[in-house]
Amino acid sequence: GMGGEEHPSCWKLDDLKKLSDCEENLGYLKFDRMHAVLVDVGILYNSHRLVPIKGKDAWDSNHVKMPNSVRNQIAPNQGPKWKQISKHLSGLARQKEADVKDVANAIGHFNPKYQSRWTFDALFSLVKTTPPSENDLHKLFPKIAALALKLPDEVQKAIPLLQRGHDASIYLSRVQIACLLANAFFCTFPHRNASNRTAEYHSYPSINFSSLFGKPLNRKIQKLKAIMHYFRVVTDERMHEGTDKAEANGLVTFERRCLRDADTPCWKSCTETLSKLHVTSRGHIEDDGADFLQVDFAAKVIGGGVLDSGLVQEEILFLLYPELIVSRLFTQELDDNECLIITGLRRFSIYEGYSDSFQWVGPYDATQKRDKWRRLKCQIVAIDALHFKDPKQQYDMRAIERELNKAYCGFRRSDKLQEPDIATGKWGCGAFNGDPQLKAMIQLMAAAKAGRGLAFFTFKDHQLAKELLDVYQLLVSRGFTVGELYELLENFCTAVRRHKDESLFDFIRKSWSKL
Ligand code: AR6
Repeated sequence: GMGGEEHPSCWKLDDLKKLSDCEENLGYLKFDRMHAVLVDVGILYNSHRLVPIKGKDAWDSNHVKMPNSVRNQIAPNQGPKWKQISKHLSGLARQKEADVKDVANAIGHFNPKYQSRWTFDALFSLVKTTPPSENDLHKLFPKIAALALKLPDEVQKAIPLLQRGHDASIYLSRVQIACLLANAFFCTFPHRNASNRTAEYHSYPSINFSSLFGKPLNRKIQKLKAIMHYFRVVTDERMHEGTDKAEANGLVTFERRCLRDADTPCWKSCTETLSKLHVTSRGHIEDDGADFLQVDFAAKVIGGGVLDSGLVQEEILFLLYPELIVSRLFTQELDDNECLIITGLRRFSIYEGYSDSFQWVGPYDATQKRDKWRRLKCQIVAIDALHFKDPKQQYDMRAIERELNKAYCGFRRSDKLQEPDIATGKWGCGAFNGDPQLKAMIQLMAAAKAGRGLAFFTFKDHQLAKELLDVYQLLVSRGFTVGELYELLENFCTAVRRHKDESLFDFIRKSWSKL
């Protein structure tokens, strides 16, 4: 129950439902129009090695255009591009050691239009500044090339795009993801370099790593350390043999979920009361909250600036769990009523600092448990808050309703009983300028509606932790329903419009004292 020394009204982290405590309710993994499973499902249950499922290539607007597709031509009718790619990559893979120059040359060959534009300063600096005793990068480049070359063997069926307005999921093995990311490293994905409004994939994130190799140096070097560490682990033969074999054969699910009109709550008439809340100013979502559904403070373009200069919560998450990056290959921009849920991720790195002070520190090696679909017990939900260029815009019921629905879309259960509580924090309140008090209230309401508890990490914001607890206690003791809170927010917006310069929590405390 409630208790704990620090804050009398705070639920303890142990009072919340953890992912590892959830009973598995998984049936037989099925494969249909909505579930694209890229491995052989039959073999999932009776063999160690996950075998890629056979199927057809598809060069169309519903599937990822693959580097090794026969339709990927150097120029119309000039031969398959993959022939050229595999020639260069094989050359690289045969070398015992390769330089950044070799890598840059290969990438330039596959992307002639961009050869003069792309720079590799960060990759050069990384190699130069790594102490010789730790510098395995020259040996690593050929291994990444070899991994990229396995694409035709590892992915034998077209990968569907997770398109706007469609509930759908993709299941990939850890090896398939590694192979796809090795191709992203060598920038082999066709039609993915242009970003103008008329470009074919303009509503998709970028996937080729070209933007990761240049400036700004310091950020990129730290990012590359995390990425190279990922490749170091996945190209290590030991991962495919012996004890770690099961690991390498793990499965990851990427699921796009839409909140249909019929499931969208009428917030004003919701009768749920608040669920459990644990608040702390200490720790991080991905550490102390790792055993819950972790919230990714996302951009609608999933992964935000991870392959570029961005380096806040979402980008850091993508660097710690690099398998997340592959979601950029197939996830179209999220709409207001959509989220992406990723299950089965492995964490590879630990870090220090934030933004400009971010530093890759080293390997993460705590063991993670797995479910019977061979997915590691780790789940992340990407929800993108609104970006308020003018913070005043957020005190508007249309904006609030949008944020409520977005959070609810991410928090909503898909299975009634066995789902963990949620680890979140100042969603939308950094780069996106949200008001932490308002966003906390919105997330509390969405969690209440979804019937799930919240572990709220204020990221060293002691004041918010204290005030959120006070207000939570007040609302719980009065038995406030979600609908009543909605009305309270309406009144608050009206007050703000009348230029009342008052925080939401002050407003709540005042309204309460009048009741
Ligand atoms: N655990 C808990 N809290 C954290 C953590 C963490 N690991 N990291 C940061 N915070 P922000 P947004 C707190 O700015 O405003 C990206 O580029 C910290 O107080 O990342 O939703 C995306 O791609 C921080 O200020 O989220 C989007 O484009 C606050 O959470 C955009 O940023 C908000 O983190 C999203 O911006």
